[in-house]
Amino acid sequence: MYTTAPANSGVISYTERTPPDMTYDLPTVNRLLHRLGWHDIIERGRANSLYSWNPWLDPTILHQVHCLDDQVRYLIALLHLGQDVPLAHLDTVVAESLESNGLIARDVTGDRWTPVWRLTSFRGIAGVARSGYGHSSANVYLGSDGLRFTDAVLAACPRGRVLDVGCGSGIASAAAAQTAQTVTAIDVVSDAAEATKLTGELNGVTETLSASAVDLEQFLIDSSVDTVIANLPGLPVPEHISYPVAGNGGPDGRVLIRSLWRKFAASLSKMSKRELIMRFESVGDEFAPAALQELQELFGTRCDVLVVTDAQLPLTIRHSMTAKNATALNPELTNDEILQQLHRGTDDAKNTHFYCATLKLRHPGEGTFQHIMTARRLNIDHRYQPAAFTAHSSERVLQDFLIGFRSIPDEFYSLGGLEEIDLLRDRLDDVRQALREGQTPREIGTELVATNRAAHESRVLTVALAVAVAAQTLVDAGDLAGCGSYQIGECSC
Ligand SMILES: C[S@@+](CC[C@H](N)C(=O)[O-])C[C@H]1O[C@@H](n2cnc3c(N)ncnc32)[C@H](O)[C@@H]1O
Repeated sequence: MYTTAPANSGVISYTERTPPDMTYDLPTVNRLLHRLGWHDIIERGRANSLYSWNPWLDPTILHQVHCLDDQVRYLIALLHLGQDVPLAHLDTVVAESLESNGLIARDVTGDRWTPVWRLTSFRGIAGVARSGYGHSSANVYLGSDGLRFTDAVLAACPRGRVLDVGCGSGIASAAAAQTAQTVTAIDVVSDAAEATKLTGELNGVTETLSASAVDLEQFLIDSSVDTVIANLPGLPVPEHISYPVAGNGGPDGRVLIRSLWRKFAASLSKMSKRELIMRFESVGDEFAPAALQELQELFGTRCDVLVVTDAQLPLTIRHSMTAKNATALNPELTNDEILQQLHRGTDDAKNTHFYCATLKLRHPGEGTFQHIMTARRLNIDHRYQPAAFTAHSSERVLQDFLIGFRSIPDEFYSLGGLEEIDLLRDRLDDVRQALREGQTPREIGTELVATNRAAHESRVLTVALAVAVAAQTLVDAGDLAGCGSYQIGECSC
């Protein structure tokens, strides 16, 4: 199920396992979810969390919403949190409808309901992912990038015929189906095509949305397509390292992204009016994603291109997370060996950072090319100095520090997250003092982790990133001088 490509091919291969075939009948489930206020509960839970793009809330949601009756509580535990629930706890009609539509199943003992799909909601649109993604061979992925992508698709209100390439859960396809005439969704994983059909059913858009298992590499963009939307895998993963197909972007991370850009460029004739809306990742230097140059070369003169880059993080942190995810899938390699291969794979002195961005491209255009950087530049190796004055109280700094986590790259939460925020919240005054004395976020992270538990490299990097957020907060508050979001020229790190 996972990817291994022949040496030096640069191509990402994928072997299919289970071709599913399911017909859905979901009116009972849909009516039930609306009656329970499902969308609202998930949305409010997310709004209360610092990790505001997370599709999957943590179990505290069950305590946050006081008015939940037991039936709703069990359904959230089962369908959203992916927990088993005793058979007797679910209403029989509801459970049978969920079971007959393949959303839940009886466990081996026959005593409990166990989730087959997990269900979430974003801006009122339901989306599913396989229960167990990342821990088993489940390949239908829905992560924070999927929600950011769905947000971009909703904002673009695509009309006419839409093609979604690499549809995954289908949540963005369902978003496009709100305004489009038709949405054709494809994914190399047949289970993803299945997820997209189920997502279409749950959102009542089956007449507009169709999904099938097709490999982008065997696919040509039809001349009748008005808008292409895509969020393809973009992580740099060397050949010989196995990695989930939803993340594996090939040796430089852009094999599939580049392939789609070339196909899109090839599909354009002088007469064609076509848009491309994408979420993409790219390595780059300290200032910008390397992919910008490719975009400029392919589309520079004939399209209007807008790229909004909303996340930048040191490449070493991205690699650390990739290695962590890959360890279970590559039992013959240690975490350090995987890390070494990842670093070797992107071994160009210019590739110091990893970027996530949204692209909006229109043909025909006047050749405008705009890159907007909204990401905070978080540097874990910078030495700061005390600034001339302290503008804010400790309480205000703490408040700003916590707000800063709403815009931190999503990778932070996958490596660690809330635990690191708590660690720092308690030590913010010490951290502030250490930064003023010239220690780097990485040095402070190493000390903080060492005093708390065994210093795993990935945990040190996560804490270091959190310290970098604290440092930026203090720079913005006028307490520290250093490399801030808009001080690129002054930064000597
Ligand atoms: C990062 S996930 C995004 C899924 C979904 N679009 C979203 O935003 O949540 C990338 C998706 O691309 C699919 N994919 C990977 N290689 C592909 C290929 N060669 N052709 C079509 N889809 C592919 C994966 O199976 C996965 O579902």
